[in-house]
Amino acid sequence: QIAFQAGTLLQGKNILVTAGPTYEAIDAVRGITNNSSGKMGYAVAKAALEMGAKITLISGPTCLSPPTVDKFISVVSAEEMLHAVQAEVSQADIFISVAAVADYRAASIKEQKLKKLPANLLIELTPNPDILMTVSTLPNPPFCVGFAAETENLEKNAAAKRNKKKLPLLVANLAQDAIGSDENELILLDDEGKHVLPKAAKIEQARHLMMHIHSLYSKLKKN
Ligand code: CTP
Ligand code: CA
Repeated sequence: QIAFQAGTLLQGKNILVTAGPTYEAIDAVRGITNNSSGKMGYAVAKAALEMGAKITLISGPTCLSPPTVDKFISVVSAEEMLHAVQAEVSQADIFISVAAVADYRAASIKEQKLKKLPANLLIELTPNPDILMTVSTLPNPPFCVGFAAETENLEKNAAAKRNKKKLPLLVANLAQDAIGSDENELILLDDEGKHVLPKAAKIEQARHLMMHIHSLYSKLKKN
């Protein structure tokens, strides 16, 4: 672990962060979403701010008050989040995708409230775009950091995700430990291998993570 250093390490760097869940409407009053408080994404934005970066934070619906970032964009659905990311990404040196994006949305959104009937209800779902993958496979992508919350085979699943999405860094954590909690344990996977950040407050983890990102990013820029 590298000791946290507030100040100017990330001065002049534009960092784009997504946070929170997305909400996919089914009808006028209902929807499907992911269990995500937004705490980790907001902590990452805050830690990067402390290091002097300019932050654009794109957030799905949360109950948190956002940190005072340079630009805060509130979105609801994955498609809205994708459009917001696409509008901001050309400015970004680093993209940190912390959002728990819903993998599916309703194939069609009913305009009126669905009425309750005494039968099973089938809802057709269609896949959402993979926002991180859209960014990481751009011809000239920013430095991309992904998150993976897994319930089992944490390292194996996370390593596979890092490869698939072509990410220099992937942050893995156990969903059952992390969701909604103020603390988590993180495993950072990069080209050099794995680094464990033992259980601590999310803001502390975010500070260690940002130091790690700074170190990888500056090595890359030197080469
Ligand atoms: N992600 C994204 N857009 C999506 C789905 C995921 O940007 N539609 C990003 C998340 O923000 C995270 C990373 O991809 O940084 C991994 O998300 P995760 O849900 O763990 O991976 P998936 O590829 O969706 O695989 P699965 O849910 O099947 O485990
Ligand atoms: Ca997913």
